[in-house]
Amino acid sequence: APTLRVFSGMQPTHNLHLGNYLGAMVNWIKMQDTHECIYCVVDLHAITLWQEPKDLRRHIRDVTASYLACGLDPKRSIIFNQSQVAHHAELAWILNCVARLGWLNRMTQFKEKAGKDKEAASIGLYDYPVLMAADILLYRATHVPVGDDQKQHLELARDIAQKFNVDYAGEIEAAGYKDGFFPLPEPFITGPATRVMSLRDGTKKMSKSDPSDLARINLVDDADTIAKKFRKAKTDPDALPSEVEGLKGRPEADNLVGIYAALAGKTAADVLKEFGGSQFSAFKPALIDLAVAKLSPIAAEKRRLEEDPTYIDGVLADGAARARAIASPIFRQVKEIVGF
Ligand code: ADP
Ligand code: NA
Repeated sequence: APTLRVFSGMQPTHNLHLGNYLGAMVNWIKMQDTHECIYCVVDLHAITLWQEPKDLRRHIRDVTASYLACGLDPKRSIIFNQSQVAHHAELAWILNCVARLGWLNRMTQFKEKAGKDKEAASIGLYDYPVLMAADILLYRATHVPVGDDQKQHLELARDIAQKFNVDYAGEIEAAGYKDGFFPLPEPFITGPATRVMSLRDGTKKMSKSDPSDLARINLVDDADTIAKKFRKAKTDPDALPSEVEGLKGRPEADNLVGIYAALAGKTAADVLKEFGGSQFSAFKPALIDLAVAKLSPIAAEKRRLEEDPTYIDGVLADGAARARAIASPIFRQVKEIVGF
C-alpha cells in the first residue's frame, strides 16, 4: 500500500486562533495515529504580506510552540519551518511554469487579501497557491487537512499535479512511474468546525490578519480575555432555536453554536437540544466555561515551552533535516524529469 502522507501548515503571522485549532489542528493531531505527518510553519507564505523581521522571528517560534502545546508530537511528526528547506521555493518556480495565469486569476483568497488596490499587492501574494502546491507535492503528500478557506487552493494543487503528470508523461513513465509522478493530494476538510467566523462580524472568517483582536480567540488568551471576547461577541436579540434549521440567516448564532459543538465534541443539534430557548445571556457563560476549560491547558503548555527557545529551535532543526531527507530525492527526480 502507498504511504499515506499528510502535509499541512500555518502561517507565522500571528499567534494561532480558535479557527486554526478547530478547522485544522484537531485533525492534524488525530492524523498522527494513522499517517506519516509533516507539519510546517509556512514562513515563506507569511512574507506575502509585510512582516516586521523581529515579529516574524518571534512568531515562527511561537507557532512552533503552539503546535507542540496543542499536541503535535515531534517524535512522530515532522515539524519544521518552510524557509529551512530550500526545495519549497525551487519547486515553486518549476510549478510556476506549469500553472496557468487563468487558474490563478480565479483564486478568491487573493482577491480578499489584496484588498482594493490589487496592483499594489506583492507578486508573492498572487503566487501563494503555487507555493502551497509545491509544499504538498515536494513530499508527494496524499492528504492535506485544512480549513474550508483552503479548498480552492487544494483544487489548484491537484490541477498543477495533474498537468505536470500529463506534460511530462513520457519522462515520468521512462523513470518507472506508472500512475504519474505526483499523487493528486486529497483535501481533508472535515474538522469539527471547518469555518470559524469572526466574533465581531459573523460573515467574515476568523483570521490572523483581522486587525481587530476582539474578532478572534487566540490560543494564548487567558481566561479573562476569552470571557471578555465572547461577552462582546456580536449576537442577535433572539433566543437560540431548538433545531439546526433555526440557525439559518443567523450567522452569529450559528457560529457560536458551532464553536460550542466543536469544543464539546458534539453536533450542533445536540447543543440546541440542550440550549434551545435559552438567551445568549445564558448560553455565553456556558460557552466561556467550555472554551476556558479546553484552551487554558494549551496556553499553559505554550507558556512553559516559551521558556525554552533552545528546545523549540532543536525541534525545528531536527524537523528540517528529516523534511530534507524526504524532499531531496523527490526534487532531484523532478529536475531530471524536467530536463535539468
Ligand atoms: P489565517 O487564515 O488565520 O492566516 P492560515 O492561513 O495560517 O490562517 O491557516 C492555517 C490553517 O487554519 C489552514 O488549514 C486554514 O484552513 C485553517 N483556518 C484558518 N482560519 C480558519 C477559520 N476561521 N476556520 C477554520 N479553519 C481556519
Ligand atoms: Na488561511
